[in-house]
Amino acid sequence: MKLLDALKWRYAVKKMNGTKIPAEKLDNILEATRLAPSAFGLTPYSIIVVEDEETRKKLQPAFYNQSQVVDGSAVIVFATWTSVTEKEVGEYMADIAEQRGVAVETLNDFAGYINGSLKNLTPEQASIWAAKQAYLALGFGLVAAAAEEVDATPMEGFMPDAVDEVLGLKALGLHAAVAMTLGYRDAANDYLVNAKKVRRVNEKLIIKK
Ligand SMILES: Cc1cc2nc3c(=O)[nH]c(=O)nc-3n(C[C@H](O)[C@H](O)[C@H](O)COP(=O)(O)O)c2cc1C
Repeated sequence: MKLLDALKWRYAVKKMNGTKIPAEKLDNILEATRLAPSAFGLTPYSIIVVEDEETRKKLQPAFYNQSQVVDGSAVIVFATWTSVTEKEVGEYMADIAEQRGVAVETLNDFAGYINGSLKNLTPEQASIWAAKQAYLALGFGLVAAAAEEVDATPMEGFMPDAVDEVLGLKALGLHAAVAMTLGYRDAANDYLVNAKKVRRVNEKLIIKK
């Protein structure tokens, strides 16, 4: 499907039909989220993939019992780092050095620039900043799912602390920021399946100067 056709086809599915997504499609969607850009390239989040049915059942109450959590095929939780320090920046520099085949010392100025930018953020500001990056990855995931003709529902209707608890995220230095469920629409039972897509009209949304 062409990109715009895929984006017109997709919608935030309310009722999924329990069909499993082929592993290759799931991998492609995850790879697209991995390719999302982030500020400095730091990717201050992890992407938690929950296919296991029992774990999804445990997650459902934390998602205010939204049915897609169990009727879908996978729940993807974008969980931000609870602390962004020189340690994480150092690990990122090591990754760049390894993957680009350069000496890590050549990245000292870059590391200093990132550390200088981040050190003035309060923990709350750092958390909001990290969440912005995670939402961008969510966007890439939603587009990739549409391109794979897999349904996806973006979700922030959940209790973050409860999701952290079920998935043991606190111990990993992570906090649930946003999520999406992946699966296939239950066309017979989803009240939104034929609903016209509503967006602000071009003239109001896009301001050309
Ligand atoms: C960040 C975000 C969080 C959302 N949270 C939920 C949610 O928890 N449950 C749900 O059913 N839909 C959720 N939605 C879906 C929106 O209601 C939906 O994307 C919007 O109405 C536009 O419709 P469309 O995606 O079907 O085109 C969320 C969307 C976004 C972008």
